[in-house]
Amino acid sequence: MDLVEPRIAEYIRALYDDGDPVRHEMERLGAERRFPIVGPLVGRHLQQLALSIGARRVFELGSGYGYSALHFARAVGPDGIVHCTDLDADNVAMAERFLTQAGLWPRIVYHQEEALAALRRTGGTWDIVYNDIDKDGYPDTVDLAYAHLRPGGLFITDNVLWHGRVLPGGDDGTPATRGVALFTRRLFEHPGFLTRIDPTRDGVAVALRRA
Ligand SMILES: C[S@@+](CC[C@H](N)C(=O)[O-])C[C@H]1O[C@@H](n2cnc3c(N)ncnc32)[C@H](O)[C@@H]1O
Repeated sequence: MDLVEPRIAEYIRALYDDGDPVRHEMERLGAERRFPIVGPLVGRHLQQLALSIGARRVFELGSGYGYSALHFARAVGPDGIVHCTDLDADNVAMAERFLTQAGLWPRIVYHQEEALAALRRTGGTWDIVYNDIDKDGYPDTVDLAYAHLRPGGLFITDNVLWHGRVLPGGDDGTPATRGVALFTRRLFEHPGFLTRIDPTRDGVAVALRRA
């Protein structure tokens, strides 16, 4: 299910196009390998959210080869830091290549490690926790993200509309669909978060940690 009519998505994509060659190369690779990067519509959303709260410290759960991190790294500025996590060594190597090309590698720390374990081990308080791991792992991220966000910080999660499979009658019985549905209930029921869903691409949940 396309949440945004493809011609409208294309129209917005063209408006957002800043000609950035590194971003374009990362998008080409994503299309070639059918690798699920967030894409330019969500990427700009992430960058703007980070800038709007003056984020300096971002922790990503599930970073792939660094496309979402490219947007966060631009937003946090030269004194900021983006911690990335991925289990796959090739992804980490590609991220280093792309983000070095973009001049952003000094703002990045990559953990080749299970994402939740890396956040627990690293600890600290973050302005943004961003979540894009395997979907069956989503439910366990809610309390962990809350514990590591500052009041006024954002917990941002991709794919919460899961191509419509979370709609009534759409459940395909897979651990991924169950994971996204359970996660979303937990997030909306959590008294410490004020949450909304932006229906861009596959749905982005933005949860504000209350004071
Ligand atoms: C959807 S992709 C991330 C895309 C990235 N956020 C972007 O838009 O550029 C998910 C990535 O997270 C990694 N991953 C999934 N579950 C993970 C986990 N529990 N810990 C660490 N990495 C994980 C996968 O290997 C994959 O590369």
